[in-house]
Order: sequence, then structure tokens, then C-alpha cells
Amino acid sequence: MNRDQAATTEILPTDTPALFDAAVARAAALLRAGELVALPTETVYGLAANALDGAAVSRIFAAKGRPEQNPIIVHVDGLAMARRCVREWPALADKLSAAFWPGPLTLVLPRSERIPAVVTAGGETVGVRWPLHPLIRAVIRACGFPLAAPSANLSSRISPTSAEHVRRGLGGKIRLIVDGGQSLVGIESTVLDLTVTPPRILRPGMIHAESLLAVSGALQTEVAATEGPLRSPGLLTKHYSPKARLTVWPWRDETELNARLAASGLPLASIRIIAHTRIPAGLEADRVSVIPRDAEAFARAIYAELHRCDEQGVALIVVEALPPEPEWAAIADRLRRASR
Ligand code: TXA
Ligand code: MG
Repeated sequence: MNRDQAATTEILPTDTPALFDAAVARAAALLRAGELVALPTETVYGLAANALDGAAVSRIFAAKGRPEQNPIIVHVDGLAMARRCVREWPALADKLSAAFWPGPLTLVLPRSERIPAVVTAGGETVGVRWPLHPLIRAVIRACGFPLAAPSANLSSRISPTSAEHVRRGLGGKIRLIVDGGQSLVGIESTVLDLTVTPPRILRPGMIHAESLLAVSGALQTEVAATEGPLRSPGLLTKHYSPKARLTVWPWRDETELNARLAASGLPLASIRIIAHTRIPAGLEADRVSVIPRDAEAFARAIYAELHRCDEQGVALIVVEALPPEPEWAAIADRLRRASR
């Protein structure tokens, strides 16, 4: 990226009502003109385009270097807009949307003809989500059309949870980033396929299987990406990766951890530990990050930690093994993918 290009990416704050309104107006004007805008959502930042404008959506693939067979989620504000994106709206979609929308759940449904093929990667289904973050909701209302938005990172890299993460990855490639603060959920939405019975989780998220099951009554849990045809390209293993090698280890105590670190053969200075329970005390403070043993707090913080490791040129990231409870499943999934 050269200086001139970097200068073309505007970053707008939203800290006061007036700034918020100005950012919404600017974002909506660019989106109406077919441009890309990075917007905050409660999960991760999204790179948005008018979902009804195939040419605008094509620019998303170019900016991210996204494989063209990977469909993009359509973001709506309200049930009426969601229903206009799909051909069928099953009773279960009513129940799930009542329970979890607006929020971090994407429903995959038969695509309406209004949605251009580039959004769905040529497929007959579309992923629809009503996000919770007030900024993207206001932008969708101002536009009057739904927004196609993948995570606002270069393809196969870690999703951004702050405007600064977006700028580092896409600065110079897009006109505007709206800064809506740190993403509250911190990992990507749960993707649930409602075109099969029972519905199938294509990508786990912080709305976990148990919560969905309570509403849907039955559920197929995630299938391995290697089995059968590609149900969702998001299940591709090379996804969500930091530049460093990442590994998840259990350790009983610091002696065991130190022995494993020594066995890695890497200089300690190139390793970062991310711990939540058995926190090593003997290592230098800047080698160890502590995130509370609380799934929501951990999800909110983990991508920022991984981004920081990338910036600092860390060679190996060692994450303390996660608790087995269902609320940790999506975080474990992302770490598994990041460790490949
Ligand atoms: O939380 C999120 O979902 C964020 C924010 C911006 O909303 N978006 C996001 O988008 O993570 P992306 O493109 O990075 O991931 C979308 C995932 C991909 O794994 C994609 O393959 C899957 O959803 N997906 C989208 N549409 C689909 C469809 N019609 N059928 C199956 N999978 C779909
Ligand atoms: Mg993504």
C-alpha cells in the first residue's frame, strides 16, 4: 500500500449523536453509489456493499481476494426486509428470528430472485442476518436496501474487531471505514442452514447448539468440511488464520508448559502465551496475555490478541486449552481453524 492510496481511506468516528448521524449519511451515500464501506457489527466488522447491486458486490471479492465460490451474508434491518431476500420463510425462521434477532445468527434460506447470483456464489440459497449493532442498522435503514457484507479482512486472515484492524488489512482499498468501537461479540455469527431438516449448523457461533436446539427442537451439528459436497465454504480449513503458527495446549502447571516451550526449539521471545486459568508467572509479562475464563469475554478479546501477535511478528501462539462447555464450542472451532 502506498501513501496516496492510504490517504483515500476515510475513518469516521461515531462517538456523539452528530458524528453518528454524519457517518451514517456518508456511508449510505457511498453505498448508494455502489462503493464499499467497512461497518461495525456486534460480531466483527463487515465490508458492505448494496446486496441488490451485483457490480458493487463483485468489488467485495476483489478487495478481499475472496474466492468467488464463497457466498456472502446479506444484512437486513427488520423481518420485512429479511423476507424480501428469500423465496420461502418457514415457520422455524419465525421462531428463530423471534428468539435471536437482531443478533449473531445467520439463517440460510432459499434465495429470492432479487438477490444477484454473485452474492450467493451462484447458489440457490442466501444467508440472511439482522445484526444488532446500531450503526449498521441505521445505515441499512438509510439505504433502504440490504447490505452484503463478509468480514472486513483479507481472505483467510483473522476477522477485524476494531476499525484499526480493518485499516491495517484494507486501508487504501476502500473509501470509508466507520469506527463503531470494539465488536461486542468478537467472533463471527452462527450460520444455520434452514433448507435441510432438521436444520444444520454450518458455522458455530456464540449462539450455540444448545440455545438453537431449545428453539428448533432438532438440529444437525457441524459436519467436517471434507465430507461430501461443500455445504459452506466457511468450513474450509484454511480460514481465520494468524500469520504465526497457533497451537492449543493443556498444561497442568508452569513446569509442564516450560518443558513444552523448550521442546518447541523456538526462542522464548518469539512465543506468546494466551492463558485464562493456569497463568504462567515466570515468563516476562509481554509474553503472556490473560483473558478471563468467561466465554463471552474470551470471544470478545481473542481476535484482537491474534491481530496483536501478527503485528509483533510472533512466531508461535500457544493458547491454553479451553473448557469443554457448549458456550466455548465456537471459540474452540476458530482456534482449531487458526491452528491448521
Ligand atoms: O458475523 C458475521 O457473520 C460477519 C458479520 C460481518 O456479519 N460476517 C461474516 O461473513 O463472517 P463471512 O463472509 O466472513 O463469512 C460468512 C460465512 C462463510 O463461511 C460463508 O461460506 C457462509 O457464511 N455462507 C454465506 N452464505 C451462505 C449460504 N448461502 N450457504 C452456506 N453458507 C453461506
Ligand atoms: Mg470471514
